[in-house]
Amino acid sequence: MVVSPLLIGMPEMRQSSLVVVANRLPIDDSVAPDGACEWRRSPGGLVSALHPLLRHTPATWVGWAGRTGPAPTLPDVDGVRMQSVPLSTEDFRDHYEGFANATLWPLYHDAVEQPEYHRRWWEAYQRVNQRFAEVAAEVAEPGGVVWVQDYHLQLVPALLRELRPDLRIGFFLHVPFPPPELFMQLPRRAELLRGMLGADLIGFQRAQAAHNFAQLVAKVLELPATDRQIAVDDREVRVGAFPVSIDTAEMAALAARPEVAERARRLRQDLGGPEHVILSVDRMDYTKGIEQRLKAYSELIAGGHVKVRDTVLVQVAMPSRERVGQYQILRERIEREVGRINGEFGRVGEPAIHYLTQPFDRAELAALYRMADVMAVTPLRDGMNLVAKEYVAARVDDTGALLLSEFAGAAAELSQAYQVNPHDLEGLKQGLLAALQADPADLSRRMRGMREHLHEHDIRAWARSYLSALDESESLTTRLRTD
Ligand code: ADP
Ligand code: F6P
Repeated sequence: MVVSPLLIGMPEMRQSSLVVVANRLPIDDSVAPDGACEWRRSPGGLVSALHPLLRHTPATWVGWAGRTGPAPTLPDVDGVRMQSVPLSTEDFRDHYEGFANATLWPLYHDAVEQPEYHRRWWEAYQRVNQRFAEVAAEVAEPGGVVWVQDYHLQLVPALLRELRPDLRIGFFLHVPFPPPELFMQLPRRAELLRGMLGADLIGFQRAQAAHNFAQLVAKVLELPATDRQIAVDDREVRVGAFPVSIDTAEMAALAARPEVAERARRLRQDLGGPEHVILSVDRMDYTKGIEQRLKAYSELIAGGHVKVRDTVLVQVAMPSRERVGQYQILRERIEREVGRINGEFGRVGEPAIHYLTQPFDRAELAALYRMADVMAVTPLRDGMNLVAKEYVAARVDDTGALLLSEFAGAAAELSQAYQVNPHDLEGLKQGLLAALQADPADLSRRMRGMREHLHEHDIRAWARSYLSALDESESLTTRLRTD
């Protein structure tokens, strides 16, 4: 069955009844010189969501191991089989950096940066999707379930169905799905829609995305489509919204540890014991609204509404997709602006912004969340934004204010956050001030409501609802430890 030249000669693959297919594997083979592998929590929502879910589940995760060339053989991690897919340097450049992150990513995020269209990138997208489909077809047990993730792999469901019609195939899109007027720009729009329709169930973060998809299918493919189901040949494809979440209990337990609380106190001391700490944690991405946030903050200082002596901003911005031009330009602009603000408003030993580009382990992230009075999560567009949910889960004493963009998927659920339009600079400034000056009793009421919501709607509830929709029979949900 395997036809891609890069797959020839790969060791025989073991089969599982549940297979997750995602662009990246959650482990970094380079951190295992002695053969011992650990989960790599790369800063990204997909790994953060699926990692706690799959741990100790007899499943296979199919993905790319993070370096180009032949696919490494990886040990099982926490009982999960790691099946790597090889990518050449051309595949990485034209599929991952090109079609996935310079065509689809900007287009799906309201085209806040200009999407680029190149025929060579499309060829690579098809080639790499074909290879992922072939590997998935090899490792799925007869009648098994394959759950394909995200925009890098939109052709996989249909390619896989051709290879293995016996499988039950799910597809979940972690990012927004754009309105028809944007999606229609794509030169190969019909192929992308047909690729997704190979799935039995197509999951989105929000109902609006399911609606956009159904409208496009009706318009471009002329198939009968509603926001819940689409008829394709003799099959029925179901469509729906399944807002992804976090391991709420794990983050809450981590944040409640005495050593994490102590670390949060120390961090605050190290910041000079300010009255207010504002925190932002983002992948360095133009969708995250970092520049708009910095501008709002610097105008608040310049206008005398915020004093550097009393208030500090900690901005964590983990570099991402670093060879893609738009990301390089963004980093330069952010770093110039941080330098300007600190130069203009900081004092010796008292910078206005503490800017960090490092990865942190989960305990340090929990301590940062506990340290912050205001968490500013203000993306221009975001599929969900798990950082917002992590902050809420970490506020175990019901303190703290969440400032949240209404364009983050999380805004539909976290209605008690201070919601802002990040494009509206004055609104952003007012929102920040309101969060900084809020009445503690009001904050506590809001935070309690949001924590209760996340307690119920955690990552296991997400998996349960998706997998039971994929297969109405309860037996499927038992393949994952969702209890
Ligand atoms: P995206 O998927 O676009 O990156 P999300 O907010 O949904 O955005 O997910 C980001 C995930 O990455 C979160 O789980 C967050 O804790 C993690 N993360 C972000 N920055 C860092 C960092 N500097 N170090 C470690 N983890 C990070
Ligand atoms: O959330 C969207 C997403 O592309 C995820 O698939 C991934 O976890 C995250 O962003 C990080 O992106 P990358 O894999 O390009 O570093």
